[in-house]
Formats: sequence, structure tokens, C-alpha cells
Amino acid sequence: MTKNLKLGVLISGEGSNLQALINACNNSNYPALISLVISNQHDAKGLERARKANIKYMVISHTNFNNRDDFDKNISTALLEAGIDLVCLAGFMRILGSTFVDLWKDKLVNIHPSLLPSFKGLNTHSQALRAGVCITGCTVHFVRRELDNGPIIAQAAVPVLRNDTEESLAKRVLEQEHHLYPLAIELIARNKLQIVDNIVKISDLVTNQQDALVSPTLK
Ligand code: GRF
Repeated sequence: MTKNLKLGVLISGEGSNLQALINACNNSNYPALISLVISNQHDAKGLERARKANIKYMVISHTNFNNRDDFDKNISTALLEAGIDLVCLAGFMRILGSTFVDLWKDKLVNIHPSLLPSFKGLNTHSQALRAGVCITGCTVHFVRRELDNGPIIAQAAVPVLRNDTEESLAKRVLEQEHHLYPLAIELIARNKLQIVDNIVKISDLVTNQQDALVSPTLK
């Protein structure tokens, strides 16, 4: 199977979602490959993951630029030079400006650790615990100018348990992120998506016939 989609992955830290994408791309039937990893942090652990996987990586530090536009432009140039088809934000902790977002419109995706449109921004698990929701999860979406607000591609839900802390909840959600991100990118690579009026329509959708996730339940 030919790998028809070249991914550029932007990270700032641990890079566990990058690792999930590396693992998926290592499968010969997976229709995408990672051509470039960019971090804005020199010490991002994800850089080591890219190195180990023999993927080209670079650090473009925001501290080397006087303004956001120049930083964004530098990232764009590196992505264009690498022939990237789809930019994947994976724990990238800088907000990209509107010029960048518009240039990569429909070619820029993000994974967010909540069921959007709930709990945008940072500290999503603490937001979920404070709101007292019984179910939370993660979302892969196209990026638009407004933060955490683009067309939703896929979501996974997990229960919030009675004794959950931010850490335990983050762990449960992150496990699902690692399944969801490769799945969403595979849908894009296989041309299964269309965006109509800012809503993602998926062709050949296999409806998941599993029971609903109910939380809490009686013992
Ligand atoms: C993930 O929870 C992701 O949803 C959020 O930042 C975290 C990054 O984790 N945007 P990692 O660097 O991929 O391990």
C-alpha cells in the first residue's frame, strides 16, 4: 500500500501522541508517513522518539523570534520544504497565528483532551472534574482561527470515576488519544472526509454498534 499522506508533527514535550503516530505509520498498511517533526522546545522528549524512529526533526524555538508571525513563518517554510500534506499538532504548546492557520486550512489538525466543545483551553481534566461531568474524553479536529474550535473529526469518550484525580483522568484519556489520533489521520489519508458548512461528513461510515457508554452504573 502506498503511503499517500506526508505528515509534519509539531510537539513541545513528551510526544506520546507522536509515538502513537510513529507506531501506526510503521504498519505497512497505514496510508501515511511522518516526514518531519518540529519542536519549539529543545528538551522535548518527543525529539528522542523521532530520532529513534529515524525521522527528520528540528527545533524551532519561539524564543529566537521577536514576534509570532516570524516564528510561524519559519515553521511553515520548514513544513513546505519537506512537502508536508498534513500538519498534526501533538501537544504543541504555542498558539499559531491566523496567517499560519489560514495557509494550512483543512491541512492542520489537533488533538485536544476533552470532548469539544466542552472544556477548551488548558487544564481540561481539572475543568471536567470541577464541572462534575460523568463522561469526558478527547477530540481530533481541524484547526481554525478560534482556539479549539474547528470541525470535529473523531471523538473518544471515557468515564470519570468517583476517586479520579487530574492525573488518573489524564491517563485514561491519553490512552484513548493514542488510538484516536491515528484513526482520524487514517480517515483523512483514505479521503473519507468532507467538510460541509464547517461540519465533517464521513463517507463509508461504519457505525459502531456498541452500547452507549453510561457513567456511572450500579454495581
Ligand atoms: C495530550 O493530552 C494532548 O491532547 C494535548 O497535550 C497532551 C500532549 O501529550 N494537546 P503528548 O506530548 O503527546 O504525550
